[in-house]
Amino acid sequence: MQNEQIPWWQSATIYQIYPRSFQDTDGDGVGDLRGIIRRLPYLVALGVDAIWLSPIFPSPMKDFGYDISNYVDIDPLFGTMSDFDQLLSLAHEQGLRLILDFVPNHTSEQHPWFVESQSSRSSPKRDWYIWRDPAPDGRPPNNWLSEFGGSAWQFNDATGQYYYHAFLPEQPDLNWRNPDVVKAMHDVMRFWLAKGVDGFRVDVLWHLIKDEQFRDNPLNPDYVPGRMPPNQQVVPHFTADLPAVHDVIRGLRRVIDEYSERLLIGEIYLPFDRLVAYYGEELMGAHLPFNFSLLDTRWHARDVAKLIGDYEAALPKGGWPNWVLGNHDRPRIATRVGFAQAHIAAMLLLTLRGTPTIYYGDEIGLPQVPIPSDRIRDPFEKNVPGIGVGRDGARTPMQWSTKKFSGFSTSKPWLPLSVDWRVRNVQVLDQHKSSIYGLYRRLIQARRHSQALRRGSYHPVVSDGDLLLYVRACGSERILVALNLGSEPARVSVGSTECTGKVLVSTSGEHDGETTGPSISLDASEGFVVALAANTSPPSM
Ligand code: GLC
Repeated sequence: MQNEQIPWWQSATIYQIYPRSFQDTDGDGVGDLRGIIRRLPYLVALGVDAIWLSPIFPSPMKDFGYDISNYVDIDPLFGTMSDFDQLLSLAHEQGLRLILDFVPNHTSEQHPWFVESQSSRSSPKRDWYIWRDPAPDGRPPNNWLSEFGGSAWQFNDATGQYYYHAFLPEQPDLNWRNPDVVKAMHDVMRFWLAKGVDGFRVDVLWHLIKDEQFRDNPLNPDYVPGRMPPNQQVVPHFTADLPAVHDVIRGLRRVIDEYSERLLIGEIYLPFDRLVAYYGEELMGAHLPFNFSLLDTRWHARDVAKLIGDYEAALPKGGWPNWVLGNHDRPRIATRVGFAQAHIAAMLLLTLRGTPTIYYGDEIGLPQVPIPSDRIRDPFEKNVPGIGVGRDGARTPMQWSTKKFSGFSTSKPWLPLSVDWRVRNVQVLDQHKSSIYGLYRRLIQARRHSQALRRGSYHPVVSDGDLLLYVRACGSERILVALNLGSEPARVSVGSTECTGKVLVSTSGEHDGETTGPSISLDASEGFVVALAANTSPPSM
């Protein structure tokens, strides 16, 4: 297989940075672009190929940058356009690609487009957003609900109509059925692509088109009040995943393809059968519709094996897979599956077939940090308190060192550090080969050096109980991945000679380089990546 024929993003490891929490350099307790510049050598040493930055654009920060008031500038909190230009060129010099967050579904209510749109019914930008008359009783036009609680319709006194917001009232939805909106947003993409950014992660891609007839969403019979966020009272049948969204995506992709080697990633939370439609007809949609299935699967070998198989089976021909273990919206993996299993999760993420995305801090096993009530910042938690939807705990500062505030800032960070920051930081973990940080580095390197891990086919190996086994194969190179998802030791034995080979990576690091016999003993929460000897042929492949 010729490497040069492979698009870069198929063999890349992507790393998500939440800029507020990565590295502060100006002492305001919030991360900034110069902080990311300072940490580029760290990212190179970690071995990742691309970084994706959550939004850095001017914003009133009601939803921490996902409410944008100017798509083509940098928020002063993060720095200046010249900082950005420097970040981009330094990243490229060091061999790192840079992906930006593109938020096309909604703007900030302070965006000049919306300020204009709400000024009068006859505003030339009125139709850039979604305005409707009240229902006959004066109430909202229909039953559509906001993701962050309450009706998705906000009344505007001055003009006597409601506007639609899928998220906060401060995040009015753009009207993607209006060609002027499409053109303006395409130009936003071109602005950044012309600067040289390597692609976009597109926010809530499956939300862009809503029902033209504004029909009520069906009620959700499975809704459990007090346990589920209130927006789940209805099924988003008429507000998301509409067929026409694929035309919009094809348009985004055409803009991407005006430039060479750029990447289009879509944020899409849908079951596999719906998700894979986002590759688009003839693969002319998103290159990578994010696969979030590991974020909420039950952590049992059988469930994970089934999920991998179902995803592989659902992929369209030529559709390239991808995997995500964490992001700024979901609980940290180390808390969800426990510290020991976070090692197994890392080994899984970096040995599956498809582009892995690592969420900053997962490489040091950052847990979900409990947030005292007086420090809650997330509007979702403020609007829908007490049922565990808060996202602050997954957005806490990166922990770099044993210095004050863990080297993140010289002043009190905007969110608390984890209580164990004195030991859970890059400086300390770097001294221990068996640390999760060491494991991430060894796995990324192993992936870099193995065609089978980067490009190879995926073959499940029938396994029992807590064992999850699979083989990745490319040409004569075959790699067995053996993961113990349980808390008891286990023995991997798949025949007489089938495990014979050399350990490339073991979770503890202690077995790296060892030769394996026909069977392998795994401790609780232990995993091995084994380069199989050429003459072995694992069964059940
Ligand atoms: C996406 C973002 C999330 C944000 C929401 C609204 O899901 O990841 O952080 O709150 O969109 O923009």
